[in-house]
Amino acid sequence: MKGTRGRFGNIKRFWKTVCLFCLLALVCAGCGGSEKAEGLPSVRIGVSLYRGDDTFINNIRGELEKRAKAYEQETGVKVHLDIQDAKGSQNTQNNQVERFISLGCDVVCINMVDRTNVSIIIDKAMAAGVPVVFFNRQPVEEDMNRWDQLYYIGVDPKESAVLQGSIVADLYEENPEQVDRNGDGVVSYVLLEGESSHQDSVIRTEWSVQTLKDSGVPVEKLTGGIANWERSQASALMEQWLKEYPGRIELVISNNDDMALGAIDAIERAGVSGISLVGIDGTVPGNEAVEQGTLLGTVASDKEEYAGVMMDIAIARARGEELPEDLVLEEGKYYWVSQEIVMKKEK
Ligand code: BGC
Repeated sequence: MKGTRGRFGNIKRFWKTVCLFCLLALVCAGCGGSEKAEGLPSVRIGVSLYRGDDTFINNIRGELEKRAKAYEQETGVKVHLDIQDAKGSQNTQNNQVERFISLGCDVVCINMVDRTNVSIIIDKAMAAGVPVVFFNRQPVEEDMNRWDQLYYIGVDPKESAVLQGSIVADLYEENPEQVDRNGDGVVSYVLLEGESSHQDSVIRTEWSVQTLKDSGVPVEKLTGGIANWERSQASALMEQWLKEYPGRIELVISNNDDMALGAIDAIERAGVSGISLVGIDGTVPGNEAVEQGTLLGTVASDKEEYAGVMMDIAIARARGEELPEDLVLEEGKYYWVSQEIVMKKEK
């Protein structure tokens, strides 16, 4: 009997060791950490995207990954980036943040699904002492003021819209008949809007049109609609508008590039020509459309700067260091990425 118990004891001890080993491996695999065990310095950053299939967000993701690699090469500090897609669910995103924290992430970067619903995430982060870098979907001021370890990186929506409006205003000033195609003295436009709850949609919609008016462009709104930043939704709306206003649409103002591309899809399907379109973002396909001449112009945010500043803040906070001296944050927490107009290059 003794021998049998002894043998079972050995087997038990063996499985205990195996389990412990697996548990350790799991913890290390999540947000990283294996390097720490080898004694190399490392930082662990959890990133949650509101939707991984959003073109603009995907462009930012690509730049983040590049920046993390470059930082590793420059400093020898291993950067473990754990990027998750919340697929449009706030509940999923809350769980992702909880997991990041339990896996020992030093900092989290959050692209909120619902920017008005951040208290759960802030509560969890504050309790664990994990700084949060929000980006692209701006939490309200009251939430941002809850803790001095909350940051926001984004693009100033009024600036985007003023630049977008000025693309059309400049063209109109130089060559009115290129915008007012039917020469009736009024530019008839349709407007494609992003999600109604997004700070960028509301402000961009207001200021692009206001800029046209302030610049003296006579405008008339035929119609507008919400296409939630999406190419396919914008394409469906534009298809309908082309039928409702045959030959009357002269300008499409879009809150982002993807929806402008959707409108171009519908225009091409309908075989119509002579409509000017403007977008915002300067995404890879947006810039390509500008080069091809199907998109009149766009307002590009500097994606390298966007990801660079996010990483600088995240890494400094993760390592418990001061922020870089040349990084100036508004109210100590907001950073506005620079933007520029992109038009077709003269050959
Ligand atoms: C961008 C959109 C993007 C949205 C996602 C906006 O700032 O212009 O292209 O879909 O953010 O939150």
